[in-house]
Amino acid sequence: MLSRSSLRAATQGTRNAALTRSAAFPAIKAQCANPSISALPSGRRHVSMYGYTQAKALMYSKYGEPKDVLSLHKHSISAPHGSQVNLRLLAAPMNPADINQIQGVYPSKPAFQTNLGTPIPSAVGGNEGAFEVLSTGANVKSLTKGDWVIMKKTNQGTWRTHAQLDESQLIRIEDKTNLTPIQIGTVSVNPVTAYRMIRDYCAWDWMRAGEEWLIQNGANSGVGRAAIQLSREWGIKTLNVIRQRPTAEETDALKAELKALGATVVITEEEMLGGNFRDMVHQFTRQGKEPIRLALNCVGGKNATALAKTLAPDSRMVTYGAMSKQPVALPSGLLIFKNLSFDGFWVSRWGDKNPQLKENTIKDVLELTRSGKFRDIPVENVAWGWESEGPALAESVQGTLGGYRSGKGVFTFTGGD
Ligand SMILES: NC(=O)c1ccc[n+]([C@@H]2O[C@H](COP(=O)([O-])OP(=O)(O)OC[C@H]3O[C@@H](n4cnc5c(N)ncnc54)[C@H](OP(=O)(O)O)[C@@H]3O)[C@@H](O)[C@H]2O)c1
Repeated sequence: MLSRSSLRAATQGTRNAALTRSAAFPAIKAQCANPSISALPSGRRHVSMYGYTQAKALMYSKYGEPKDVLSLHKHSISAPHGSQVNLRLLAAPMNPADINQIQGVYPSKPAFQTNLGTPIPSAVGGNEGAFEVLSTGANVKSLTKGDWVIMKKTNQGTWRTHAQLDESQLIRIEDKTNLTPIQIGTVSVNPVTAYRMIRDYCAWDWMRAGEEWLIQNGANSGVGRAAIQLSREWGIKTLNVIRQRPTAEETDALKAELKALGATVVITEEEMLGGNFRDMVHQFTRQGKEPIRLALNCVGGKNATALAKTLAPDSRMVTYGAMSKQPVALPSGLLIFKNLSFDGFWVSRWGDKNPQLKENTIKDVLELTRSGKFRDIPVENVAWGWESEGPALAESVQGTLGGYRSGKGVFTFTGGD
């Protein structure tokens, strides 16, 4: 399915192409605590005698820094009716966009609601994650207890121990054999972004497998690592730019890590912005005989300009992030004389427009993962048990935008049903 020849065909096709009470609201909590529900030690069921499931969600009711605005809200979930599905969290990552959303600087914002019983309208943080089906309403056709699911769309809130959602909001993982919750809980944003940008923004010459290049910055990010591995799989060489680490040993170790994933070349931003970069590129690309046809930019500023300058005529740069918060500035000659194109990509919008293709893309990535061709991202595991405190969970979210992290923060639920 992912061979270079089938990809070629696919590319051509797609290219044109209740009691609810919060720790944050102690007065309400004291007033309305449900005596039939009691907190149990982690790892045990939290279901009341009336069939209500106890749940906790990391929520915000105003924009700001995660540590200031996130709080743990306790509520209960009724038995599912109709097409409702009750879920428990398996794993949910903290992505940069989740933080931007909480800060109020992201274009897509979840609705602030009181449906979980908060005294003021609030939203659950997080946009992706893997959940397990606990029970289903009588009209649910496609899901049964024990299935693993991910969210069909963003803005549904994934930083929560349990959820009750409609069947139509969920994608069932058809085959979870040999897959972990973290692999499934992190598949729908970063790998899909890398996959679609590589497939849909360059008409690769499939007769020249191994002779065409992709250049990218933020190469050690989740998206970057996915781009390296997909490119390796599809016969595209990659020139990867990372930021220098505090010591030469650490920089070398990161370079080696990315090379082990399949990166052709890894250089630092400092090497790229130094005087020899042109010569280096010339050498990597066999004196320009192997064109760099696609640039993936999630940094901006001088870094992005340097990427663009390496591109062969008629090539494209896709901007999908702005980690340096610097604008993308382009010499006019790149547009006039090299006819370069500059695009942006946003997986949320793309996924809303292409729901079936999104599911197919996820399936492809999970198949690669299962076969050992798509390795796990490094993670900083944040165990979320029933006794976990809101401020500690919020603090773990806070560091997400900080640079030089050893891995992506991922909540893994350690409570029972
Ligand atoms: N448009 C879309 O649809 C879409 C989808 C997914 C992700 N994204 C964006 O893609 C980017 C990466 O996301 P991710 O989840 O893959 O990231 P991630 O795994 O959390 O890694 C963060 C990356 O950003 C780099 N970084 C952090 N601060 C930086 C700075 N000031 N200057 C330059 N680089 C910096 C880090 O490099 P160091 O290790 O050197 O700090 C690391 O490579 C983010 O901007 C995210 O919003 C966009």
